[in-house]
Amino acid sequence: MKKVVFITGISSGFGKSTAEYLDQKGHVIYGTSRKEIETDHRINVLKADITDIDSVKAAVETVLQKEGRIDILINNAGMGISGPVETALTDDIRLQMRTNFMGAVNVIQSVLPAMRGQKSGTIINISSIGGLMGLPFQGFYSASKFAIEGMSEALRMELKPFNIKVVVIRPGDFFTSFTSNRKADENISVNNPYEPQFRKSMSIIETDEKGGMKPEFFARKLAQIIEKKNPGSTYIISTAEQKLAVVLKRILPDALFAGILGSHYGIK
Ligand SMILES: NC(=O)c1ccc[n+]([C@@H]2O[C@H](COP(=O)([O-])OP(=O)(O)OC[C@H]3O[C@@H](n4cnc5c(N)ncnc54)[C@H](OP(=O)(O)O)[C@@H]3O)[C@@H](O)[C@H]2O)c1
Repeated sequence: MKKVVFITGISSGFGKSTAEYLDQKGHVIYGTSRKEIETDHRINVLKADITDIDSVKAAVETVLQKEGRIDILINNAGMGISGPVETALTDDIRLQMRTNFMGAVNVIQSVLPAMRGQKSGTIINISSIGGLMGLPFQGFYSASKFAIEGMSEALRMELKPFNIKVVVIRPGDFFTSFTSNRKADENISVNNPYEPQFRKSMSIIETDEKGGMKPEFFARKLAQIIEKKNPGSTYIISTAEQKLAVVLKRILPDALFAGILGSHYGIK
């Protein structure tokens, strides 16, 4: 059945591929970007910065005026900062949380009155495998996704009486603009005791991402989830190896798991 989909961050990566694939499948797509973008699909592009609640509300209002409903919200827009927890700049930490966490909250709060009125809807929050385990030098990125995870668990229960579903997606490594858009700690080269380890671990992280899966695969998987009558609460979209890491995190003692994960990132 044709659905009205509101998706944030469609200028690249998951957002672009998902918007295009869902459009091909006949859904009605409204996607946000902070910049002017061209699309040869039937995607309706709306300008919005998810950190600016007024721009989000205006975008949501446009969809409601045109379609009268929003069936699916995909909270996709996001970015990452990298650096040691100790030396991270407060402004960078704020940017991370304001975008990945508060940004998603802004969109959820703007869409929910309409979904409650409809007594239906699905909210899809894009978390990360990094939202299930802290990744070295990605501490605040992981924190932003852990925050999404916790908020989504609570929201799922709050929205049950209104027949609104909350689905959390945890992608593994994919090759998108996420890697080049990552903002590195500007303090890293200034006598920073973490610098050698930071560079080593980040190079492994970036190699994993650049060798990651294509966003088109993500889009197909997400479309299957959206088209389910009763989607599950959480999904991991990743390689088998990354799924195994999630299982190991659940079953192994914390210190043992941290040792295994740390050694993957070159930490002795
Ligand atoms: N790639 C991966 O391996 C991976 C793995 C796990 C989770 N994720 C998550 O997947 C989501 C999408 O990432 P991606 O890999 O597709 O990265 P991407 O290619 O860098 O795309 C990110 C999108 O977010 C938008 N965005 C960033 N800040 C925004 C803001 N303040 N307001 C509105 N839009 C904003 C960007 O749009 P504009 O700059 O055009 O506004 C862009 O369209 C993110 O939440 C990310 O954390 C990615």
